[in-house]
Amino acid sequence: MIRIAPSILAADVLNLERDARKMMDAGADWLHVDVMDAHFVPNLAYSPAVVRRLKEISTVPLDVHLMMDHPERFLDPFLDAGADILTIHAEVAGDLGAMLGKIHRRGARAGLAVRPGTGISAVIPFLNQADLILTMTVEPGFGGQKLNEGVLGKISDLRRIGYTGEIEADGGIKESNLEMLTEKGLSVAVMGTALYRAEDPKEMMRRLHEMG
Ligand code: DX5
Ligand code: ZN
Repeated sequence: MIRIAPSILAADVLNLERDARKMMDAGADWLHVDVMDAHFVPNLAYSPAVVRRLKEISTVPLDVHLMMDHPERFLDPFLDAGADILTIHAEVAGDLGAMLGKIHRRGARAGLAVRPGTGISAVIPFLNQADLILTMTVEPGFGGQKLNEGVLGKISDLRRIGYTGEIEADGGIKESNLEMLTEKGLSVAVMGTALYRAEDPKEMMRRLHEMG
């Protein structure tokens, strides 16, 4: 069954606990926490302190997405804070294998993300180390963008070459386009805007879970 990971980037930052609980009560499988450094992406979002407090109230795994250069500097802070899944971008400089290995050694699941413009060739060398491949369906940095359908081929290509880990997509996902992603082999959908704008997130989540 498709896992739904609401992105708290779309939550009301003045009511983060309320909005996190709202999505967990609605049936979220994970909570997706976008972290941005104003360098790798032109935006700033969430810190280890936020993850630490979310961990105190969360009944589901925290799926932390590091949209930052030099993620090696922040693996420990986010792992200490309680990240259950920690995803770095394949485009950053540095030893990706070493970073993925460190995340594993500390007992978390390790993810590797690619921007829409980065081919899966960037992740192929790491498929046996990555528990999750995040194929961004928008240019990272902001919620509320339109899904880039050109990314779908990456999902099916990963399954075709035999990748059996989680494949997650993030950005522009909504009820009307989720099925074309699950048909390609998607296993986790990050959704921010669509869920936080939903009249009845619980009812929407029920329908979404039936899609894959
Ligand atoms: C982009 C962010 C968004 C957000 C979800 O860097 O990662 O993808 O989580 O976006 P929407 O609001 O389009 O679901
Ligand atoms: Zn994200």
